[in-house]
Amino acid sequence: MGYSRITGTGSYLPDRIVTNQELATRIETSDEWIVSRTGIEARHIAADDELTSDLALQAAQRAMEQAGISAADVDLIVCATTTPDMVFPSTACLLQAKLGVKQGAAFDVQAVCTGFIYALALADKLVASGAHKCALVVGSEVFSRLLDWNDRRTCVLFGDGAGAVVVQPSEAPGVLSSHLHSDGSLSHILRVGGGIAEGKIRGNPYLEMDGQAVFKLAVRVLGECAHEALAHHGMTGADIDWLVPHQANQRILDATADRIKLPRERVVTTVARQGNTSAASVPLALDKAVRDGRITRGQHVMLVGVGGGMTWGSVLVRW
Ligand code: ACO
Repeated sequence: MGYSRITGTGSYLPDRIVTNQELATRIETSDEWIVSRTGIEARHIAADDELTSDLALQAAQRAMEQAGISAADVDLIVCATTTPDMVFPSTACLLQAKLGVKQGAAFDVQAVCTGFIYALALADKLVASGAHKCALVVGSEVFSRLLDWNDRRTCVLFGDGAGAVVVQPSEAPGVLSSHLHSDGSLSHILRVGGGIAEGKIRGNPYLEMDGQAVFKLAVRVLGECAHEALAHHGMTGADIDWLVPHQANQRILDATADRIKLPRERVVTTVARQGNTSAASVPLALDKAVRDGRITRGQHVMLVGVGGGMTWGSVLVRW
């Protein structure tokens, strides 16, 4: 078994920005309430004709350009999404066609906001084992379409976007470890409960959430899985250069950093301007910190996520 490493990152945000002030003209809320509870100031919302695979395409092309690879090189596409274009084919297959990739495997992963962590963990194993040579791992969401825009308890929290990485074989360790978890008995605290039957959505098509239960669980499991990864390598928070967490809420990010005694300046945060973009949030934040020069070769970068399922996990990377 060899190793894999991330050789390129890319991301994409739709043009339209919806501020808290704009939301406050439509529902009974305020910028002050949203910022003080979540840290969110604005979010990007996809155009009506933009699909998850369209957002994924832009992010994937940017990651491929940074890695210096073309469609002829890619032999694995793993797409993490909760908002696929259609029931099937998978969004990964639709992305494969849009990219002009003609070979290899393509499939989706569904772990909601932990989706990218799951997808990257899988891609690492498939590349490090030699089964695949060049993986594209994407998190892409149009989460705005799962929201009841009259429900102030949920609609203020989320946004749309996509992020992607290229994963290739490496002689030295790049991806150091991954740890994945789930607890299906907690499915009721965060879900879109509607199902598809005879081509129609039956039941509630919108996101339902027990905010306080999700908050408590997120703080606990993100801290636990960060500790788990550190303990696996005999490391402490002082060994981590950058924490790139799922961007649900600024208070959850701060609590996670505190739990592993990591200075808050070493947490990459995008939640203020992007909201929670579910499976896209980790690769969006990662790409930002790579492109603005914060993340550099040789550094230790810890990715952690938590989401519906409930699911959670970490990937530790030497950049
Ligand atoms: N604007 C104004 N008032 C609001 C809003 C809003 N947008 N939303 C709720 N309120 C009101 C409620 O109606 C309630 O009023 P009431 O007391 O008159 O009934 C009051 O504010 C308090 O509501 P709570 O739900 O108790 O507010 P809380 O302090 O728990 O904050 C929040 C809610 C921000 C959702 C918090 O629970 C949280 O951050 N939870 C984490 C959830 C999360 O991040 N989910 C993202 C998806 S999960 C994931 O990515 C892992």
